[in-house]
Amino acid sequence: MYDQFNRHITYLRISVTDRCNLRCIYCMPAEGVALLRHQDILSFDEIVDFTRTAVKMGVSKVRITGGEPLVRRGIVDLVKMIAAIEGINDLSMTTNGTLLTQFAQPLYDAGVKRINISLDTLNADEYARITRGGNIKDVLDGIFKAREVGFQPIKLNCVVNKSSQEPNALEVKRFAEEHGFQARFIPLMDLDKGIHGVVEGGEGGDCARCNRLRLTANGLVKPCLFSDIGYSIRELGAREAIIRTIENKPERGGKSISGEFYNVGG
Ligand code: 5AD
Ligand code: SF4
Repeated sequence: MYDQFNRHITYLRISVTDRCNLRCIYCMPAEGVALLRHQDILSFDEIVDFTRTAVKMGVSKVRITGGEPLVRRGIVDLVKMIAAIEGINDLSMTTNGTLLTQFAQPLYDAGVKRINISLDTLNADEYARITRGGNIKDVLDGIFKAREVGFQPIKLNCVVNKSSQEPNALEVKRFAEEHGFQARFIPLMDLDKGIHGVVEGGEGGDCARCNRLRLTANGLVKPCLFSDIGYSIRELGAREAIIRTIENKPERGGKSISGEFYNVGG
């Protein structure tokens, strides 16, 4: 399907949970967040049915996000169900990597072959500060486990204040080059203020070429991170929610009053 700005919408990002085992300073408030009620979170069948419809309507690329997707109970089964949908030729996941020592192999076997892992710094204290308590060893072990299992490419998502020349970013870049990973630098976004930039080394943030739809953990289809527009798949059904979302996909991101990365997906 094409939107009114002639963008070909082929990419679906699915947030499978609003929960996370970290509390990154740019993503969540320190005191944590009001989590979705259990009954509001889409079931596996709802997610898979929706995805099937999206694929029939032209989606060919799917990314699983969160929150942290690996904390969703049964995630490997969900991945298998999604991977079995005919017509998806690219299935990937964005994760904070901390649970990959456990999940890399089953995920790979389930059908995810590409993975993006968040890594903002290589300094343990910095990592603990940014993630409010995370242990960098968990993610580094996870990254190497992913490589051992065969994920290719492995992209490292590094959030930067403004540029990829900042010290943390330079370290991540050097680490990536040393080990054969790809580093992507994501300028810090502010959903409330509508601040966002183009991802360096990736395709996010370029509104004119944006081919994305998002499905939130509670079943809203959204055209943009920086938009309060969202259509409920429970109320409208998958097809109608997708049609309305594409019809209303903004030319470029604005502000999002209700936006939350941990629900809409990073
Ligand atoms: N700015 C930029 N990126 C963000 N993410 C979450 N919150 C923000 C933000 N405020 C992204 C990070 C992380 C992914 C899961 O979500 O890239 O790696
Ligand atoms: Fe969790 Fe990712 Fe948000 Fe960090 S950015 S708190 S890892 S969802």
